[in-house]
Amino acid sequence: MSREKKENINIQKEPLSRRGFFNKLWIGLGTLAGIEVLGISLNFLLSSSKMGKNDLASFIVAGKVDDFKPNSVTPFRSGKFYLSRLNDGGFLAMSLTCTHLGCSVGWNKLENTFICPCHSSSFEINGDVTNQPAPRALDLLPVIIENEIVKVNPNEKTKRQSFSSSQLTYHVV
Ligand code: FES
Repeated sequence: MSREKKENINIQKEPLSRRGFFNKLWIGLGTLAGIEVLGISLNFLLSSSKMGKNDLASFIVAGKVDDFKPNSVTPFRSGKFYLSRLNDGGFLAMSLTCTHLGCSVGWNKLENTFICPCHSSSFEINGDVTNQPAPRALDLLPVIIENEIVKVNPNEKTKRQSFSSSQLTYHVV
């Protein structure tokens, strides 16, 4: 092969090898980005599984079971929730945030109802809507009872359309 032909081949090879380099660079960067996304996803999954209902560190002590009379509502302003104890003894913890636009609802003991001061939505002792515009029941919070002590996780709100008896936590003797 003549020297001129070899130089031509070298000149033609250069753009190809540059393209190859950039292809490899992009593949490498794509792989790194994929690994990073995977790492972030795993981290999120691990941290959210740590925040589950069984994470006892997230629960705060509300009080002894006997501190709460049936058909009563106790406010916990620091945790921004109410603890209701229904007539049958079941406990229900609910966010005090109105499900309409987020104002704080107040408990009216005389009328046995939660009332939102912003647009007059009202809710039963179990959080069900009795007067709109609130579109759904007050959000639920996990409750556990251990050694006669009622504990609530104020950080894990669950949206619900309405109350059902399966949402209650009972003290089992
Ligand atoms: S924010 Fe409660 S009724 Fe509108």
